[in-house]
Amino acid sequence: MSNQTPCITVNETTKTFSLTSPGVSYIFHADPSGELIHDHFGPPITSHLPPDIGGPDGGWGSYLTRVPRELPDSGRGDFRLPAIRIRKRTGNTVLRLEYVSYEIIPGKPKLPGLPATFGEESDVSTLVIHLTDPVSLISVYVSYSIFPRYDAIARSLRIVNNGDEEVVVEQAASFCVDMPSGEWEMLQLSGDWAREARVVKRPVVLGTQGFQSLTGYSSHLHNPFLVLTSPRTTETHGQTYGFSLIYSGSHSFQVEKGSVGLTRVLAGMHPDHLSWPLSPKGGEFTTPECVAVFSAEGLGGMSRKYHSLYRGHLCKSRWVDRPRPALINNWEATYFDMNQQNLALIAKRGSELGVGLFVMDDGWFGVKHPRLSDNAGLGDWVVNPERFPDGLGDFVTRVTGFEVKKLDNKEDNTEDKTTTKMKFGIWVEPEMVNPASELFETHPEWVLQAEGYPLTEARNQLVLDLSQSAVQDYIIDKLTDILNSADISYVKWDNNRGMHELPSPSVPHAYMLGLYRVLGTLTTRFPEVLWEGCASGGGRFDPGLYHYWAQSWTSDNTDAIDRLFIQFGTSLVYPPSSMGAHVSAVPNHQTGRTTPLEFRAHVALMGGSFGFELDLNKLPEEEQAQIPRLVALSEKVNPLVITGDLYRLERPDESNWPTAMFVSPDKAKSSAVVLAYRMQSIINWHSPPVRLQGLDPEATYELEEEGQEAVEYTGRTLMNAGLRLALKGDYQSRVIFLRRK
Ligand code: DGJ
Repeated sequence: MSNQTPCITVNETTKTFSLTSPGVSYIFHADPSGELIHDHFGPPITSHLPPDIGGPDGGWGSYLTRVPRELPDSGRGDFRLPAIRIRKRTGNTVLRLEYVSYEIIPGKPKLPGLPATFGEESDVSTLVIHLTDPVSLISVYVSYSIFPRYDAIARSLRIVNNGDEEVVVEQAASFCVDMPSGEWEMLQLSGDWAREARVVKRPVVLGTQGFQSLTGYSSHLHNPFLVLTSPRTTETHGQTYGFSLIYSGSHSFQVEKGSVGLTRVLAGMHPDHLSWPLSPKGGEFTTPECVAVFSAEGLGGMSRKYHSLYRGHLCKSRWVDRPRPALINNWEATYFDMNQQNLALIAKRGSELGVGLFVMDDGWFGVKHPRLSDNAGLGDWVVNPERFPDGLGDFVTRVTGFEVKKLDNKEDNTEDKTTTKMKFGIWVEPEMVNPASELFETHPEWVLQAEGYPLTEARNQLVLDLSQSAVQDYIIDKLTDILNSADISYVKWDNNRGMHELPSPSVPHAYMLGLYRVLGTLTTRFPEVLWEGCASGGGRFDPGLYHYWAQSWTSDNTDAIDRLFIQFGTSLVYPPSSMGAHVSAVPNHQTGRTTPLEFRAHVALMGGSFGFELDLNKLPEEEQAQIPRLVALSEKVNPLVITGDLYRLERPDESNWPTAMFVSPDKAKSSAVVLAYRMQSIINWHSPPVRLQGLDPEATYELEEEGQEAVEYTGRTLMNAGLRLALKGDYQSRVIFLRRK
């Protein structure tokens, strides 16, 4: 071994590269022809690998068809899906990438223009492999950054055209790995508007299977996240490989079980929305990064690694580890029927019941084209004078003058003397424009359009072309003006349609780079603002935006039962601290279902941003009286959701008794909270014991629950025997706190 860091070793003789942490090894080598051959990805390896004697004896295809490859290029007889395809002037896409050299970099370099994981030298080390095609002189630099504390490897490609003719990058998968022959299952988070992040599991069969987004965004349809597991993997057992793409645009995840049994995983930008020209003599392209995490302890172990990695080394927001204020949003209370009077009444009642933040949703703007419904106003970010005759600044001053009356959470019941004032949040949808707007009248050339084709409207709106720097600057200026005009602490940034009529296939990626520039500028300029992403709910709940914004509206579906599925699904990869979750009115506006207030609130506690989305004045009085207690409960649970370790004791797609548990991240496991639900009543049937996880088996824990006597059990008893929760009837729930004695 000539070159060593704690996690990256290189054997110069065999040209073997190994990235290793306590929980994972990732190993590959360059063969004598310069081909990068994949050797191992999984539990840690402590010596050199036994020789591979399991390969097929001959067969019809060439050598490349039969070997596990690290960066399968195209056109040389590997008939599986390629990871990289580049079109030359002549039209051919043949590429022969041969190993040239490597470099080890302490820490992790930034990816130009793209959100990515980050860390100090003590957190992460990077191996860069340089490959080149001797014919076209195209070079590829494959970066592998290992975060040993999370058994995570982030990979991206930098492609450089050193030739003297333009080439076009048509495909460049950020991650590609050929897993060994054997049985595999794959899992994805799929759905649609108001039905996001359903866990979909299937066996991997011969041939290709996968999912994609071609919406221009990461989408409700399929989240940019794939899990490959050994068969029968559960929340606690089984080899689990996650692949999470840090990107907010169209994507493609493909799994191909090839004819000789190897299983290839490809994750990256969607090739149909790429086509990136590289100028001769130095044109470059960098792919987004994909983060692979390995867990030998099933899905739960994988999720906790993603949560800690993403909270600590992806999200740049100051809010990432701060408890979030309980909020009240007016959308489901008023929809577009809003003005300064009715909003003030909603905000006022919220403040009286202990809610600390009022969020003014859609409908507040537009002068010539007032936003009275979804058919006008987007783009014109000026307050509507009829609805707000006193102006935005005056309205914000009024709301931020409301005193927030709180129930005290303090243990000793002493009175909390600090009075807080309500904070103000605002809704915007800056990437969009209605044809009925002054912006569109002035700048019709700013929308996505393909010459000659009619513009397709969705929700009566068009998409601004954020690949244009004038559009980026307009959005930056407008948001800066709004945030400077009043005391605004929170922004909900919405985005309510997909991209159509693309001028060229490279525009969606140029748009993303433009969007990331806008978000980088605004979040740096206003670092104290709590930014929340939204795209008709969870249509852009992705790691790319999590880099800038610590939370996202999880779904437009606020029904508590549906939310259990959506929230548990989303938590597979995203920290629950990043989920917005609100209590809304019943019958629920999306599903028509009526569930008790207590259950709705307990479900919303699982999200880092707890809130209400209804007119509290319209709740029956006895329910209004419950709000201060529920807000106080949320403030007690919230710190554990923000920084704790999540254990999904049961998932709603597998059990009628979904249960989430958050354990404090300290070594002593000193506190925890259990959120236990029963979705439906089942007659004449025992509820299964709720076996806790993540506690110190030797410690004694005091359990505390509203209306119950405190009891003590050891961690071992709680984890081995479990709690017996007598939940009766439909829509029942319990919230139990644990404190180490
Ligand atoms: C879609 C969002 O998801 C909703 O919460 C709401 O903000 C509406 N847009 C407003 O138009």
